[in-house]
Parts: sequence; C-alpha cells; structure tokens
Amino acid sequence: MRTTVGWRADGPATTLRRASVERRDLRPDDIAVRVDHCGVCHTDLHAVRAHREAGASVVPGHEFTGVVTEIGSEVTRFAAGDPVAVGNIVDACGECAMCRAGQENFCHAFPTLTYGGTDRHDGSATLGAYSREYVVRDRFAYRLPAGLDPAAAAPLLCAGISVWEPLSTLGVGPGTRVAVAGLGGLGHLAVKLAVALGADTTIISRSAGKAGDARRLGAHDVVVSTDPDRMAAARDRFDVVIDTIPAPHDLGPYLRLVAMDGTLNLVGHLGQVTLQVMDLLVGRKKLSSAGSGGRPATAALLDFCAEHGVAADVELLPSARVNEALDRLERNDVRYRFVLDMSDLS
Ligand SMILES: NC(=O)c1ccc[n+]([C@@H]2O[C@H](COP(=O)([O-])OP(=O)(O)OC[C@H]3O[C@@H](n4cnc5c(N)ncnc54)[C@H](OP(=O)(O)O)[C@@H]3O)[C@@H](O)[C@H]2O)c1
Ligand SMILES: [Zn+2]
Ligand SMILES: [Zn+2]
Repeated sequence: MRTTVGWRADGPATTLRRASVERRDLRPDDIAVRVDHCGVCHTDLHAVRAHREAGASVVPGHEFTGVVTEIGSEVTRFAAGDPVAVGNIVDACGECAMCRAGQENFCHAFPTLTYGGTDRHDGSATLGAYSREYVVRDRFAYRLPAGLDPAAAAPLLCAGISVWEPLSTLGVGPGTRVAVAGLGGLGHLAVKLAVALGADTTIISRSAGKAGDARRLGAHDVVVSTDPDRMAAARDRFDVVIDTIPAPHDLGPYLRLVAMDGTLNLVGHLGQVTLQVMDLLVGRKKLSSAGSGGRPATAALLDFCAEHGVAADVELLPSARVNEALDRLERNDVRYRFVLDMSDLS
C-alpha cells in the first residue's frame, strides 16, 4: 500500500476533513496519477449525503486531470510525465457484450466506480480523486489532448461525457432543435456541446439570472421554466430535451416541450419519476436515459473538445475550500463547475 492525502467525509460529520488515503501498489497494468484538478459534481453531494445517512466514509471525486508519475510493468500506452484525464469508471469486466461494444459504462458485471465502488480484484472500496494521487488501470485513463486547459477539462470526464453520449447517439447535429433543462455542470456542457455540434440550442432554467450567460454559452434561446406562458409557447418545439435536473420532478412539463417523435433524455435524477403515459402518447414521444460513457466515446469527446475549443466554465478553488464548494453547489451558486486545485495537498 501507498499513502496519499485527500478530503474525506466521515459518517455523521457534515464537512469533509483532510485525511490520509491509501492507494494500492501498482499492478502490471496500473498507472499512478498525480491529481492536479478534480471537478465537484452534484453526484459528490448526493454521495456525501447518502454516506452521512449510512454513517459511512467517502472520498468523493470522479472527474480529474493530472500527470502520470509511475507506470506498471506492462503499461505501454503511457509514460511518466504524460498529462491524463480520468472519469467516473475505473474498470469493467472487459468480456461482456457491453464491454466488447465499447460501452463499459453498461458492463453487465457493473463497472467499477471511481469512488464508492468495489475493486474487482482485491475487493477494496474505491476512494475518489479529492486527493493528491489516484492509482488506475491504464485503459481507463485518457491522454489529455494538447490545447485543453487541465482545470477546465476535468469536468469533461463526468459532466461532459454524461451528456455527450446522449447527444451523439440521439443524432444531434446541424439543425437539430435541442433544449437543455438545468443549467449547472452537466447542463452548461450540454449546451456548449450541442452548439458545437451545430444544433439550434435552447436553455431551460428556473434561474432568470442565468439568462444573461446564454449568449456567451452559445445558446440561441432561453425559456424560464417557472414562467407558464413561456413553457406553453415552447410546446412541441424540440427534437431532443436533455434533462439534467438533480431532484425528483414531474416529467409532464418537459415532455410537452418535445416535438413529435422526439426524445426526453433523463441524465440528472436517476430515481423514480412520475409520468403520465398520455404525455408520451400525444406526439409519439420517447423517454430515454444515459449514464457516463464508454472508452471510445470518452476518447472521442476529448478529441472533439480539443478540436472545437469546448471545456467547462470553472471556478477554481484550492482543495482546502472543498466544503465551501459543496455548500455553494447545493445552493445553486456556481457558474458552472467548481474545480479543486489539489496542489495545496502536496
Ligand atoms: N447520468 C449520469 O451519468 C450523471 C453524471 C453526473 C451527474 N449526474 C447527475 O446529474 C445531476 C446534475 O448534476 P450537475 O453536477 O450538473 O448538478 P448542478 O451543477 O447542481 O446543476 C443542476 C442544475 O439543475 C437545476 N436544478 C437544481 N435543483 C433543481 C430542482 N430542485 N428543480 C429543478 N431544477 C433544479 C439548476 O439549474 P437552473 O438554475 O438552470 O434551473 C442547477 O444548476 C445530478 O443529479 C447528478 O447526480 C448524472
Ligand atoms: Zn459526476
Ligand atoms: Zn463487462
């Protein structure tokens, strides 16, 4: 075992504390990464809350960039000093139909999550990247393309890929009418990616105050979801609606925005939903979901972002301010992703 330093939420504690974090010694196909930047995802908030209720510990963090510091004996894809990026999946069975199709995110044996998962070789609990070092199987690390800022690129590895897979598999391209509900970490990247794909892109937000950012993000229109007249006027307007809202909500108002044969794609709230089938029936609408991404799609996303200059709008904070970042994220006070600078852990 090797030891690094990170930020851990322990059982009933309401804040994360600096703590030592154990990492495994490198296996032949592992690399060690010095974590430089880690995004703060809303899933981290959900996880801290769930672990508090269960009285368990968690080290969050599953979208990060850094530099390779050491490689295992069989690693040929990376060398010490390479800039890399890692997302929310760090292993999968590699043999099932999903893995063979490059959709490790849907591995029939369930992918190993970057934190809160179970290592499939030694059974240990995985600890996340709110820490200075992470040890990862080499095939789940991605070369960070030159030209992408490492801080702004970190959120691509969870927020970005989670919206990229639905956008790309739903065929979003020039002329597609896309709406994105919830303008946070996932939402603002969905907007930027949809715009870069050539879509006619609209933001649906509760926060009228965010409307001013729409043009800067490249969106063509904003619908304030608390205004019933604007919502009614947007009826049947979009081929694809990407819903990133992180809490349970009625799908009816969002389904009514979908055009005939269009799709409402849920990526935000992954629990129970309420739905009237009539809202699907009228207009033959489709409901779908997506989560994270496979290795080929993740690599493609990074190339696309480098080519089109897409990255997150970040507020960079020293990692010691992680609790402030989580508090502000909970209060919807972020434009649009906190990223922790881990250098203060050295
Ligand atoms: N499917 C996946 O693979 C995947 C991956 C990562 C995260 N997630 C999940 O996606 C969700 C969003 O994550 P995020 O990091 O983008 O969160 P975030 O930065 O907090 O953004 C969520 C946005 O949704 C809106 N919102 C927040 N609370 C709301 C409520 N109660 N009702 C309606 N709208 C609300 C807000 O936008 P406005 O102010 O514009 O309304 C907020 O900015 C989380 O549940 C997270 O766990 C899923
Ligand atoms: Zn995430
Ligand atoms: Zn598999």
